[in-house]
Amino acid sequence: MKSFAIISLLATTLSVVSKTFAAPDPNFHIYLAFGQSNMYGSGDIEEQDKTVDSRFQMVSTVNDCGSRKLGTWYDAIPPLATCDAGLGPADYFGRTLVETLPKEIKVGIAVVAVPGCDIQLFEKDNYQNYFPDDWMYPFIDEYGGNPYGRLVEMGKQAKELGVIKGILLHQGETNNEQTDWPLRVKAIYENLLTDLELKAEEVPILIGELVQLSENGTCGAMNAIIQTVPSVIPTAHVISSEGLKQRGDGFHFTSPSYRVFGQRYAEVMLDLLKDTTPVNDECFSVSLGYPCCQKTTKVVVVDEDGEWGAEDGNWCGLKANPNPECFSIKLGYPCCQNTSDVILTDEDGKWGAENGDWCGINN
Ligand SMILES: *[C@@H]1O[C@H](CO)[C@@H](O)[C@H](O)[C@H]1NC(C)=O
Ligand SMILES: *[C@@H]1O[C@H](CO)[C@@H](O)[C@H](O)[C@H]1NC(C)=O
Repeated sequence: MKSFAIISLLATTLSVVSKTFAAPDPNFHIYLAFGQSNMYGSGDIEEQDKTVDSRFQMVSTVNDCGSRKLGTWYDAIPPLATCDAGLGPADYFGRTLVETLPKEIKVGIAVVAVPGCDIQLFEKDNYQNYFPDDWMYPFIDEYGGNPYGRLVEMGKQAKELGVIKGILLHQGETNNEQTDWPLRVKAIYENLLTDLELKAEEVPILIGELVQLSENGTCGAMNAIIQTVPSVIPTAHVISSEGLKQRGDGFHFTSPSYRVFGQRYAEVMLDLLKDTTPVNDECFSVSLGYPCCQKTTKVVVVDEDGEWGAEDGNWCGLKANPNPECFSIKLGYPCCQNTSDVILTDEDGKWGAENGDWCGINN
């Protein structure tokens, strides 16, 4: 009678072993950010920026940054990019998200940005042909000479801890008025999705405008090109810099402007996340990165974490047994609901039959 269950149990035991290695937290939302000096952060870090809700975390993308170590997570106190960076749009992006999202959700960010860099620096098949000004090399060296590679490395680690929810970009001053920029961004975005095994529809890219012409931005004309990106990347969203003041150099925003800019990135993201509710925690498996079983109550295997079922080709956690007195649940059979006719008794207990399936009869 139960032999088929035993066969399926054997067939799945091996793959159960591997699940213990994967435990990303579905409520840890991680964003990858890249670009040049504005993403790096060029604003003064002021008193109000020096404390942060610990639900907003940053990963150090460089080594030996004070006490911060490459690949380690910290409260997202600026600077987020490197030790020498300032306030940037990523700061108040994360702060706004954690302020708005349910408290179960944590937000993480990985910022890889090089002041002055051309978009070419992030082209994985072409960055080695980029020969920037000498002063930029120390910045690039902090990323092992390959900022794109560092971003992917951070992304891979992020996927083990949480869920990558989006990509933030601020770049374009160095490619001012170059009409091929949108397609180059598209190629980089697609490389990131491929290298990190992400789906475009689940991981949008948010791209901020440069200081506007009306604010005397030196590269304000580039915004007309940036605005065309969604026509080549359907999952891209442009973040307006309208009214955001510059610091006086024609390129960089003021700290108050970075704060508003970050909020604007967050507002667009929040709109995309509208339906985000914390992943339901009613069964043990969610914290291990597996959903609760929705349709099945059959136990396929039991380990030290709990009872596992399988659904749509995935492991799922079974909710607490509503009827613990019924022995058959553990064996993958429901409790008898409308019958008490014992058809068979074995070492497990008394069996009835209902709807063409075996069921356990309560003692
Ligand atoms: C832009 O520059 C012009 C000419 O120098 C000046 O009159 C104007 O006030 C500036 N606008 C802003 C927003 O700084
Ligand atoms: C038990 O009987 C009720 C009422 O007739 C019915 O709705 C339910 O589906 C039955 N359950 C099973 C497992 O047969």
